[in-house]
Amino acid sequence: MTQDNSSQDKAAGQNGGGDLFNTAAGWVLFAAGLGLGLSILSGKYFHGDDPQRPEKLGYVIEGAVEEGVAPAEMSMAEALNTMPAADLIAAGEKAFAKCQTCHTVDAGGANGIGPNLAGVMGGPVAAKAGFAYSADLKALGGNWDWDRMNDWLKSPKGFVAGTKMSFNGLGKVEDRAAIAMYLNSKGANLPVPTFVADAAAGAAPAEGEAAAPAADAAEAPAAEPAAATE
Ligand code: HEC
Repeated sequence: MTQDNSSQDKAAGQNGGGDLFNTAAGWVLFAAGLGLGLSILSGKYFHGDDPQRPEKLGYVIEGAVEEGVAPAEMSMAEALNTMPAADLIAAGEKAFAKCQTCHTVDAGGANGIGPNLAGVMGGPVAAKAGFAYSADLKALGGNWDWDRMNDWLKSPKGFVAGTKMSFNGLGKVEDRAAIAMYLNSKGANLPVPTFVADAAAGAAPAEGEAAAPAADAAEAPAAEPAAATE
């Protein structure tokens, strides 16, 4: 009896060993398959051995100017002329939501964290009564015009290092133009610089020049070109 038992046990043991071996072999196969699969897959994504890398990295266009490579941002003058004034003002009013936490814009509005902005376009810098401006903004002097407002709204701290206007700036010239146009509708009403599309293809138009056809200049309250200061 005991012998029978033991031989049965032995058989069972062998059997079990066989299963174990099969299982292990199965895993090895599986792992190998997985490895192969992964290497095929990764080959699909990373063409390590394909000769796709160009011999020369980068390219040189002889005689090309830097601007030709990436399209340069449009000028303020162009941005101010991309749509009818009324549409631009409407867009500016919307975009002004970003400024409203700190600024009122209607005539007689209160100063908040920032000064009231009525008549700021064309008006003197840092001149609102009852607002404590930073020394740096006060030191800027002169008047707000299109170019200065463009630079200011692009990066207040870049334009006036010590300003206390905590605002990162507006990255898109379209937004800056719209807001400047909106501000301009709330006060001084500077003439919008004219923009001749053809000139953009060739030499960049000097905004100051474009803004001053003789007839306009007579009517317009001194829109001094930005070149005057700085
Ligand atoms: C977090 C508050 C804050 C936000 C947001 C803000 N401003 Fe100002 N702004 C100020 C402060 C403060 C000053 C005064 C800066 C100084 O004295 O240096 C100022 C000054 C100005 C001035 C100069 C005013 C003058 O009398 O010369 C203009 C123009 C202006 N901001 C426009 C804007 C516009 C447009 C926006 C929105 C795109 C905006 N600001 C967003 C706080 C803010």
